[in-house]
Amino acid sequence: MQTTAPGLAFRLTLPDEWQGDFSIELAPGLELPPPGRPGKKIGETLLVETASGQHRLVISVGEAEKIDAEALRKAGGAAAKWLSSHAIASVGLEVGPQGKLSAAEALSAFVEGALLRSFSFDELKSGKREAGETTVYVLAAGETGELEAALQHSQSTAAGVNLARRISHRPPNLSNPVTLAETARELAQELGLKCTILDEKALAELGAGAILAVGQGSHTPSHLIVLEYAGADPQAQPVVVVGKAITFDTGGYSLKTRDGMLGMKFDKSGGADVLGVLQAVAALKLPARVVGIIAAAENMVSAAAYRPDDIITSLSGKTIEILSTDAEGRLVLADALTYAQQNYQPKVLLDLATLTGGVVTALGDVRAGLFCNNEALADALFASGERTGERLWRLPMDDEYAELIKGDDSDLRNSSKSRGAHPIQGAIFLKQFVADDVPWAHLDVAGVADTEQEKAYTGKGSTGFGIRLILDYLENR
Ligand code: BES
Ligand code: ZN
Ligand code: ZN
Repeated sequence: MQTTAPGLAFRLTLPDEWQGDFSIELAPGLELPPPGRPGKKIGETLLVETASGQHRLVISVGEAEKIDAEALRKAGGAAAKWLSSHAIASVGLEVGPQGKLSAAEALSAFVEGALLRSFSFDELKSGKREAGETTVYVLAAGETGELEAALQHSQSTAAGVNLARRISHRPPNLSNPVTLAETARELAQELGLKCTILDEKALAELGAGAILAVGQGSHTPSHLIVLEYAGADPQAQPVVVVGKAITFDTGGYSLKTRDGMLGMKFDKSGGADVLGVLQAVAALKLPARVVGIIAAAENMVSAAAYRPDDIITSLSGKTIEILSTDAEGRLVLADALTYAQQNYQPKVLLDLATLTGGVVTALGDVRAGLFCNNEALADALFASGERTGERLWRLPMDDEYAELIKGDDSDLRNSSKSRGAHPIQGAIFLKQFVADDVPWAHLDVAGVADTEQEKAYTGKGSTGFGIRLILDYLENR
């Protein structure tokens, strides 16, 4: 499963050993470019023929003073897009320091962008893309150790993200809680991770009534999937990453509209991201101990499905009245968050979820919603977001909002009748299941997990949003 995207292979090469006649140059863009120089828009490409008859693709990295990793990722995305539509077997990439970035940092960001851009979900296409592989010879003199490490880092990172994107794209007739558990088990075997899978029987024995309620209308049983990466110290308190994996969200009896249901296969993106994070931390051999928990269920309509007005008992013991069967993500997460605290003493607890349509209204597909009970953690995650381009915006969780989800005949309700503050209602509901002294952050990625709009280095469809952010957090905390 550990594959980089098909189509692009990077190889470090000494410049005088390389004999090709096609090269890529990264250049600051100019307001009014002379012939042979690109404009100032990042990712703008220009193909030029040199005096000696060789070809050179010049890619703009934007205004010289503003060059950063994001610009290099975008340039890498532009290169991958250009190469995918031109049959070129080999190309030399000239990399040196760019702006404030060292050559290794620039290479790392460029390769990351290129590998992310060359992702395509083609496992269900009969006429597979026959586009041949392009070998990119990274022409580098000097510090090859650093460049080699940078290359490895981006390849492992992109492989993790692209794995998650592939899983997210799988359609609901082929991907369900059972197949997700199988995929997780295979991945764990491959990477030497510990894997624990709780099926419905195990969940019932524990009393995980919230995740069970969500999945009870489906033919495919719910599963809680746990992967453990030991890191340098298997006794250390872990960072626990929980992901929502609703393999299809019809809304249940609080049925979604025809259009609202389209794309709800992506409601498993948070869970798929957890697999991506675990694959990458193992490949990168990060020292941190990391536990991933995937709450997998399918939200369907049937005679066995849960209803509005049902009152269920969660793993925590708290009872929840169902106001909307479409507010199912917070239910599966409630049990997963409880399970995490009962079994792993998290040093930090993170969750990733396509939780609310409201966060799409608020932040669109540019930033994800960040909710956090700890200032230092919020700051660290925000900073990781700015560095990785997976940007966050913090939203509040004042106590008053908790009034909205207090129950009448139960402890809590999973939604309110009020139209206001939906993303916050979701977050503050989750907060009821997290001990105050556990640093916890909830990322509502409903707007950013997949996009219809082509992005500079993720293209259309699943983005794997959150994986690079969490890796950056793990590496810099
Ligand atoms: N999976 C949806 C959230 C969603 C909406 C993700 C649009 C991606 C795009 C979630 O389960 C949901 O339906 N949330 C409801 C909650 C409401 C009923 C309280 C919503 O946001 O409308
Ligand atoms: Zn829903
Ligand atoms: Zn959902």
